[in-house]
Amino acid sequence: MQCFAHFSLFCALKSRVMKKNIAIFASGSGSNAENIIRYFQKSGSAQVSLVLSNKSDAYVLERAHRLEVPCSVFPKEDWIAGDEILAVLQEARIDFIVLAGFLFRVPDLLLHAYPYKIINIHPALLPKYGGKGMYGDRVHQAVVAAGEKESGITIHYINEHYDEGDIIFQATCAVLPTDSPDDVAKKVHALEYEHFPLVIEKLLNEK
Ligand code: GAR
Repeated sequence: MQCFAHFSLFCALKSRVMKKNIAIFASGSGSNAENIIRYFQKSGSAQVSLVLSNKSDAYVLERAHRLEVPCSVFPKEDWIAGDEILAVLQEARIDFIVLAGFLFRVPDLLLHAYPYKIINIHPALLPKYGGKGMYGDRVHQAVVAAGEKESGITIHYINEHYDEGDIIFQATCAVLPTDSPDDVAKKVHALEYEHFPLVIEKLLNEK
């Protein structure tokens, strides 16, 4: 009995110690970042330990402060070089990186340090409406201008090209002839909030 109690305590401690650490990179509002942080604060299956941004006035930083997640801002030169950012990630024992509305291409140094451990969310059904310069509202404007009948989200691994890494998950929503880009954005955001944390959790459990 005592032995079993020790074993249970060992398992409980191990699961706390072994909890995976997630870093989120975001350049803007950060509503996805907030949703992911809240999800893992509640589920406890992993933790968002760091939020990083390339913009000192990005609203995501305020959200991170409010939720008591450490955050940091870096200049573009640091991003391109990669070594200082890698040191920050390693210092925080980051296991997994999530890009949530982050606009820079990931440098090779980070790609090699985190193979198949960096994922991105794109607000359309890749391979359509992806690539450099296709982000946020621009994507929804292009979808509406093309008269698409559906749009959605794509969660994918990062590789050296914008929006071309292996696709992990997609979900769709209808685009009505009367929908404005804002209407599409709302539907797409709803899909992001519903699926992104669950996909992250599933990937962490597999790794
Ligand atoms: C999200 O819709 C995300 O899919 C998109 O930016 C938005 C960020 O919203 N990402 C891209 O366009 C990347 N190419 P948020 O800051 O409120 O989470």
